[in-house]
Amino acid sequence: MKIKKICVLGAGIMGAGIAQAAAQAGFDVSIRDIEDRFVENGMASIKSNLDRAVSKGKLEKDEADKIMGRIKGTIDLKEAAQNADMVIEAIIEVMAIKKQVYKELDTICKKETIFASNTSGLSITAIASFTQRPGQVIGMHFFNPVPVMKLVELIKGFFTTDETLGIAQAFVEKIKKTAIEVQEAPGFVVNRILCPMINEAVFVLAEGIADAKDIDDGMTLGANHPIGPLALADMVGLDTILFVLEGFHKELGEDKYRPAPLLRKMVRAGYLGRKSGKGFYDYTK
Ligand code: 3HC
Repeated sequence: MKIKKICVLGAGIMGAGIAQAAAQAGFDVSIRDIEDRFVENGMASIKSNLDRAVSKGKLEKDEADKIMGRIKGTIDLKEAAQNADMVIEAIIEVMAIKKQVYKELDTICKKETIFASNTSGLSITAIASFTQRPGQVIGMHFFNPVPVMKLVELIKGFFTTDETLGIAQAFVEKIKKTAIEVQEAPGFVVNRILCPMINEAVFVLAEGIADAKDIDDGMTLGANHPIGPLALADMVGLDTILFVLEGFHKELGEDKYRPAPLLRKMVRAGYLGRKSGKGFYDYTK
């Protein structure tokens, strides 16, 4: 099947990034969120990324306008999804909400439409079970910030067909990213390795072994990471990191995955990182 029109569900950090990547590759994109202000924020973040590329001389103004012109924001699920060849879902990580959305999508979309979920922690097999097209449901896990990060994990659920995988691989290639094929498992590949490292950094902080900056300097200067684990947690969102770790702990049942109590405390306090203004660092100043 030839993929021409993409529907992105969720205009948050990930959804907006995915919509931008798809539009830059020439796809027609609709981006849908539940409130106008979320759609507007997503569109504004795409525009600001493109404006920055224009001001750096990396993109022609004309081209930036064309890319923006390919993206249509809406709060209407039917309008967004009915003609889509592929729906990429990047909504809140709450299974009950995903269930409702997938059930609705299944009735709105064409029978060939592929459903790809950007979930970072939920089961693709479970998501597929909400639809009448389980073979056409796949995990398509992007990394933050999407416009910069080259990797996409393609996760095969129990029912995902090779044909669906092939279509998803071709799409990832078209948006100039690299796909790795992953069997369904908690955290897939990257988060399975990355999130326990971030959790360990939070334990190191909580135990008073070093302060946040020194922990991050340790990992950037001593292990050549582009950004320290605590700064990365702030970028991804502490709530997301906690959600992923809780999933590991529940599914894999091992103590090594238990979230650091300090991480829980910060999430409860609303210290979610960059998006809330404060996390391990203060972004309000
Ligand atoms: N959106 C778009 N572009 C961005 C951006 C953003 N949010 N942040 C940075 N960029 C671009 C800049 O414009 C710049 O572009 P240019 O090279 O064309 O000028 C380029 O990225 C480099 O930016 P900076 O020089 O400002 O900053 P850095 O050199 O520190 O790079 C970074 C920023 C690429 C984000 C780097 O810090 C990095 O690689 N960090 C690690 C990111 C990472 O590990 N992500 C994975 C998180 S896990 C995840 O997402 C999974 C989820 O399920 C939890």
